[in-house]
Amino acid sequence: MKLLLQIKNLHIAVDDREIIKGLDLEIKSGEIHIIMGPNGAGKSTLSNALLGDPSLDLKQGKIVFVDKNISDFKTEDRAKLGLFMSWQHPPEITGVSLDQFLFLAYKNIMLAQDKKWQAPSIFEFKQKLEQEAAKLEIPIKFLQRSLNVGFSGGEKKKIEMLQLAILEPKLAILDETDSGLDVDAIKLLHQAIKEFKVKDRAVLLITHHPNILDYIKPDYVHIMIDGQIVKSGSQDLIKEVQKAGFKSYVQS
Ligand SMILES: Nc1ncnc2c1ncn2[C@@H]1O[C@H](COP(=O)(O)OP(=O)(O)OP(=O)(O)O)[C@@H](O)[C@H]1O
Ligand SMILES: [Mg+2]
Repeated sequence: MKLLLQIKNLHIAVDDREIIKGLDLEIKSGEIHIIMGPNGAGKSTLSNALLGDPSLDLKQGKIVFVDKNISDFKTEDRAKLGLFMSWQHPPEITGVSLDQFLFLAYKNIMLAQDKKWQAPSIFEFKQKLEQEAAKLEIPIKFLQRSLNVGFSGGEKKKIEMLQLAILEPKLAILDETDSGLDVDAIKLLHQAIKEFKVKDRAVLLITHHPNILDYIKPDYVHIMIDGQIVKSGSQDLIKEVQKAGFKSYVQS
């Protein structure tokens, strides 16, 4: 399988405080990786750094995505290469409807990857959007509302999964997309992740829920403590964490 993402000796600081402290990670196409770790370990900081959050300082190391060193790339250019991230707290954007936003993003991303790509008409696009929304049980009328404004926590997460289905990125980074969802929505979410993965795309999932294994079979599980990956392994690691907590991984 093709190497998609390579993180080497990554050090990330916020206001001179180091949060990611020498992190290595490799993800190949078609793989599902899960990162677990205690609150404050730096999981969201890592995903923000991967998407190019300008408030974070990359002090050392590099991020390579589809053979390009993207360490200095703007968020938009990373997205054009096929990187997608959900936010733990999605932003609200007034004045731009969800369907307009997605059509623009879709055209930008597809054209960046293939100059000869022929954009569908807005009518064709909306048909596809409505089909995908139906799978996630998102009401059609939501598609005309301003992006994320006034949506409930769970609705925002579902809308992120809709973005994922439409934009078809090569790698999706999902930061606690499964938090705050009701049981039925969790099933839909995991179904959407499975469908996404079938197309040989990769997923990096940050979660606190050990029962994720009821729905998804990860290829690798990583434990992150204090800005570093301290252990990587199979899905059995999740059971280990469930029994012993994170304390046994803390290096003294
Ligand atoms: N912009 C910022 N300014 C100051 N401190 C920050 C900033 N962003 C992150 N931090 C700090 O970095 C550490 C890691 O935070 P991060 O959000 O990455 O943790 P996390 O592993 O995602 O935790 P959780 O499981 O609670 O979501 C925390 O101590 C946090 O306070
Ligand atoms: Mg977090």
